[in-house]
This record gives sequence, structure tokens and C-alpha cells, in this order.
Amino acid sequence: MTLPVEVTDVGAACAHVLLTADPRAKLMAARAVARDWRLGRLAHRFDAAMPDRPARPPLPELLPPGRMPRRGRIGSDRARIAMLHALAHIEFVAIDLAFDLVGRFGDGFPAAFVDDWLRVGSEEAMHFALLDRRLRQLGSHYGACPAHDGLWQAAEATAGDAAARLAVVPMVLEARALDITPATVARFEGVGDHVSAMMLRRIMTDEIRHVSAGTRWFCAETNRLGVDAPQHYQMLVRQHFRGAVKPPFNDSARRQAGLTEEFYVALAS
Ligand SMILES: [Fe+2]
Ligand SMILES: [Fe+2]
Repeated sequence: MTLPVEVTDVGAACAHVLLTADPRAKLMAARAVARDWRLGRLAHRFDAAMPDRPARPPLPELLPPGRMPRRGRIGSDRARIAMLHALAHIEFVAIDLAFDLVGRFGDGFPAAFVDDWLRVGSEEAMHFALLDRRLRQLGSHYGACPAHDGLWQAAEATAGDAAARLAVVPMVLEARALDITPATVARFEGVGDHVSAMMLRRIMTDEIRHVSAGTRWFCAETNRLGVDAPQHYQMLVRQHFRGAVKPPFNDSARRQAGLTEEFYVALAS
């Protein structure tokens, strides 16, 4: 796939991904932007305004978190599909989160920041594609179930501050996925769905790198600001994140990503 001719810089390319609603087209656009950047075809410029909210396809129906249907036990095919659908939606939103991070905040960082987060964005697109393919193998597809509309809220709450965005998105939300995924893998294993379990394991190894990139760039930013990284993290999370940061934590996966206990333990008490 090729990007529209008017898209010549990386900021406009990121906005293009956010403004693409169709899932298949968004995933192709995400890959094309990452590839074109890698090949030096996009200028390191950020003039394009980023949309407040990304374009969304007509389906899935988006519901407020409190109105999501209960999933039931994972033993049934329906519950398994609902779980995979929820994960596919998280990956779909994660594509936009990565490209929004670059398009909105890239100007304040060196080109290596763009390298890292466009790679993350294309990995999120790949995760989405894997989960959608799995849904199709099970006779469903992305869009067939309702999805949770709360995920963009973290982006809105941190639209004005790069450090806050890094603290809340990769270092709280993606780190939370590291805490939860091993139990989800075990549940799929428990009902004999080894294909889905293996897929989630593979996704988790990528997600450790995403948390790691978040922590690394957060620390670069706190260094630049001359503030203490764990303390600044705690302050920003308290200020911008409404949910709870609570155990059980996957300390070893978090540690592999450089997100050590001095960051998050104080938030849990
Ligand atoms: Fe992902
Ligand atoms: Fe991720």
C-alpha cells in the first residue's frame, strides 16, 4: 500500500493513520507509515494537527465500560470469542495510541523516538491482525461484538503532556497487560485453545518491549526536566489516571521492561 501523495512528513503520516476508520485500511496505513519512515521517505516534521479522536468504523458498537455485557466462563466458544474480541479492540486502539504519540509529541524528541514508536505502532497492527485472524478461524471477526469505549480516555487526559502520556499509556496501561496476560494464557490453555494461548504469549514478548520503550523515553524526559523519574511518574499518574494501580503485579516482566518497583509500589498503597 502507498500513502496519499500529500503525505510527505511523519506528522501528517501519523494523522493519516488516525483518520483512517476501516480496520483493514488502518492496519495497512500503519505498516506503510512505519516502512516509509524506515526507508527515509518521510521528513522529520510535525506540522499536521492531530485529531482529538481517531476515526472509528461503524462496527464494533462502542459502549461505555459499565454497559459491556458480562463475558461468562471461558469454556464456551462465545466467551472465548468475546475475550479475543476485547483483546483485538485493545490492539486496534493501541495502533492509534502509538501514532498519536509520535504525531503529537514527536517534535520534542530526537528521531530515535519516532523509530521506536512507529515500530511499536506496526507491531500493534500486527497484533490486531493476528487476533482478527483468530476470530475468523472461530467463525467471528472484529466488529461482531460490542467494544469498550473507555480506552481513548487516557489519550485525552494526557493530550497536553508527553511525560504524562508515557506514564499513563505504556507505563500504566500496557504494564497492566503484562500483569494480566499470564492468567489469560492459562485460561486459554485450560480449555485446550493452545493456538490462542501461543498467540498471546508472542504478543506479550512484544508488549514487554513497548513498556520498556515507554520507561526509557519517560526517563529521558525526566532527565531533561531535571526531576526524579519515579516521583514524577507517581505525580503524573495520580493526576491523569482515574483507574487503580493495583497488585498483583508481574514484577519480573515489569523489571525486564525497566519498570522497577520504585515506580509503582507507592501508587498501590
Ligand atoms: Fe499490542
Ligand atoms: Fe503495545
